[in-house]
Amino acid sequence: MLDPITEVKSIAVLTSGGDSPGMNAAVRAVVRSAAANSITVHAVFRGYQGLIDGEFKEFKTYDVSNIIQRGGTILKSARSKEFRTEEGRAKAAANLKEKGIDALVVIGGDGTFTGANILSKEHGINVVGIPATIDNDIIGTDETIGYDTALNTATEAIDKIRDTADAHERMFLVEVMGRDAGFIALETSIAGGAELALLPEELTNISEVKTLLKNMLQEQKRSSLVVVAEGDETGGALKLAENIKGDFAQYDVRVCILGHTQRGGSPTARDRVLASRLGAAAVKVLLEGHSEIMVGIVNNSLKITPMRVAVSKKKNLDYTLVQLAKLLR
Ligand code: F6P
Repeated sequence: MLDPITEVKSIAVLTSGGDSPGMNAAVRAVVRSAAANSITVHAVFRGYQGLIDGEFKEFKTYDVSNIIQRGGTILKSARSKEFRTEEGRAKAAANLKEKGIDALVVIGGDGTFTGANILSKEHGINVVGIPATIDNDIIGTDETIGYDTALNTATEAIDKIRDTADAHERMFLVEVMGRDAGFIALETSIAGGAELALLPEELTNISEVKTLLKNMLQEQKRSSLVVVAEGDETGGALKLAENIKGDFAQYDVRVCILGHTQRGGSPTARDRVLASRLGAAAVKVLLEGHSEIMVGIVNNSLKITPMRVAVSKKKNLDYTLVQLAKLLR
């Protein structure tokens, strides 16, 4: 714990890992809440790589004007290999100390938090994490910043694919992001009324998939849409298509990979509000003397989770939703 209030005079903020819509809104909230408490904010560009290379710029409230509605991150992001080395982290810590920075706010996902946790352990840097990833795979928060936007982007795409699938009486395999997590796949499959969702969290048996699809197509359905998480054990939509197209030749199986379209775009109102709350919360908890923690919103209230806990567990899917998807298909 820091000594409350008196100790925090200067903070740094960065975005790291896969960008997510709403990161800018979080940066804005950190900068403006800090300014309201007379704290100096150093923006760090290009994530941990910028921390190592000394890419700092002092940000005032006007530096974050007109960004709340923008996707991507004005601070840029990177997956820094150098920060994975002891030497890299030592350089990053030295830069923070040299600038007299009391705490570092990191906005990102589990990789970002793992890095912050190690930096804090090795060099005694105070850190606070703000969960931002389209994957929604972080414990200690009901939703991560960017998830809602990605969900809406993918659902809109699925609706469009459904139109053409129906017109041609085709089968579409739609791949959504999620290397290790099936949150996007599960909820888009419900929102888009998909026949099936293949999730990394569940074992996928190809012959069961074929039987299920055949049964559905023998009933009333003339077209079908399967949502495949990129990390599903089938190896993704292209591989799955290779595996099943011979059995469904009459449905002219097609693949659509939504890819990085899910990462971009203007954040939804819900993501902007979440990011604003979490950005302000990060400054608040620092002023209260907390460090090595992540801020989240659970049941509409602020929740603080130790960083080491946040990176140690995988968030589980809501299995009532998995059942619901099966019931309604
Ligand atoms: O972590 C977010 C995410 O979008 C994952 O869903 C995806 O697997 C990964 O990032 C892709 O990362 P990159 O853009 O570095 O290829």
